[in-house]
Amino acid sequence: MRLLFIGDVVGRVGRAAIAEHVPVLRRDLALDFVVANGENAAGGFGITENIAQEFLNAGVDCITLGNHAFDQREALVFIERAPHVLRPLNYPAGTPGRGAWLYETARGERVLVMNVMGRVFMDAMDDPFAAVEKELAACPLGLACDAAILDIHAEASSEKQALAHFADGRVSLAIGTHTHVPTADWRILPHGAAFQTDAGMTGDYDSVIGMDKEEPIRRFTRKTPGSRFEPAEGQATLCGLFVETGGDGLARKVEALRVGGALAQAIPAF
Ligand SMILES: [Fe+2]
Ligand SMILES: [Fe+2]
Repeated sequence: MRLLFIGDVVGRVGRAAIAEHVPVLRRDLALDFVVANGENAAGGFGITENIAQEFLNAGVDCITLGNHAFDQREALVFIERAPHVLRPLNYPAGTPGRGAWLYETARGERVLVMNVMGRVFMDAMDDPFAAVEKELAACPLGLACDAAILDIHAEASSEKQALAHFADGRVSLAIGTHTHVPTADWRILPHGAAFQTDAGMTGDYDSVIGMDKEEPIRRFTRKTPGSRFEPAEGQATLCGLFVETGGDGLARKVEALRVGGALAQAIPAF
C-alpha cells in the first residue's frame, strides 16, 4: 500500500496547501490512504466541522489531532459523529470522540490509525504506551488490519522515539507530530516500521512554529501578556512522509515530502 502522512496543518495557508497539493499527490503517487494532523487548522487552534470536511474533499482519509483537539468547542460535539477525526487515545475515559479507528480503502484494504499524546513537557495524560498496547492487541497488523499508522503527538524526541520503538514491528508507520519542524531521521526501524521523529508542519515556515513572528518575540522579550497568536500568512510548505508497505503491512520504502513554500522541495521519485 502507498501511504502519506501530513504534519500539523496550520491556519488558512496550511489548509490552502492541503486543497492545492493533496489531490495532485494522491494521483501522482497513487496513494491508497492519506492521514493529516489537523490540530492547528482553525486559526492555529483546533479544527471545525467545516474544515474537517474540506480536508476530506481534498482527499484526506483520516484527520488526527493533539493537545489542541478541542480548542474549537464545536469539536466536542461533531467529533462524536466524525469517525474520520481522531483525538489522542490517552485522554481520560469519557472524553468525546475516539483515538483509534479501522478504515477501509477504495480497494478494500483495512488501515488502523491511532493518535496518541506524549506526557513529557505536556499536559498530564493517561499512559501512552499502555494505550497503544491495548489498540495493537485488539487489532494486530497482518491479521485484523493491512496497515497501521501511529501518530505520536509529543514534545520530547526521546518520548517519540521510545514509543516508535515500542510499536516497531507492529505498525507500518510511527510518526511524530506537534513540534512543527521536520526532522531528517526518516528511515525504517529494525522491525519494519517507517519512522520520523517529527513530520514537520504544513504551514508558513517564515514564522515561529507557524505563528506570525511578532507576538512570540514580544512574549519572549517582554514577559507580559499581549495580543493573540495569529498564523503566519506566507505560502505554506506541505510536509509529510510517504511510505510504501509490503504484503506483511511493514514498510518497504520511506521518503520525506516537502512541497511549496520556503523549505527545500522534496518529492518522492517512486
Ligand atoms: Fe501542532
Ligand atoms: Fe500539538
